Amino acid sequence: MKFFVDTADVDAIAELNDLGFVDGVTTNPSLIMKSGRDILEVTKEICGMIDGPVSAEVVALNYDDMIKEGRKLAKIAENIAVKVPLTWDGLKTCKTLSEEGTMVNVTLCFSANQALLAAKAGASFISPFIGRLDDINIDGLQLIEDIRVIYDNYAYETEILAASIRTVNHVSDCAKIGADVVTAPPNVLQNLAKHPLTDQGLEAFMKDWAKTGQKIL
Ligand code: E4P
Repeated sequence: MKFFVDTADVDAIAELNDLGFVDGVTTNPSLIMKSGRDILEVTKEICGMIDGPVSAEVVALNYDDMIKEGRKLAKIAENIAVKVPLTWDGLKTCKTLSEEGTMVNVTLCFSANQALLAAKAGASFISPFIGRLDDINIDGLQLIEDIRVIYDNYAYETEILAASIRTVNHVSDCAKIGADVVTAPPNVLQNLAKHPLTDQGLEAFMKDWAKTGQKIL
């Protein structure tokens, strides 16, 4: 399973990238706002840092302007995936940009039928938002399972990019279901390494080691 980092914070991306954990990056208008940076400038910087896809989202709501924005974003670098919302105009934009050879990430997906349409429109990635479904008492993971079955039934190549990841359990559950990618905030990816028994075990080893009076270096 691939890990994308869901942030426009270049320092956080660099830290995870040094460990080889970053297969791609996703951003959205809210994350750009949080970064306080210019979208074109920060996206270009991120594209230069990693080899994998970097999602940059259009903000127009109609097809004509979405296409113009998408083409402008696509020019930033070869690894741009233009992110479009799962609306009728977004799907039209997805079809056009995909036919032009641009990767498209269709975002704000909340149903299996929406995911089916995105695949038929040629999306490279579909982004179902698990956490936001969980927030309203709908099982987000069930949506990932449903999309996996549908895409496998018809051999769609669109990758399932599980988004709105809030917990470490979301990550392992998505891996069990067979999501192609999870995009998670940096803190969730860092928390994957944590376990209280690891901390307790290490503390006990260190105490015993001190009693030996030995040194390795
Ligand atoms: C995905 O591409 C989105 O940027 C993101 O996962 C949304 O997550 P949120 O629901 O925590 O804002």
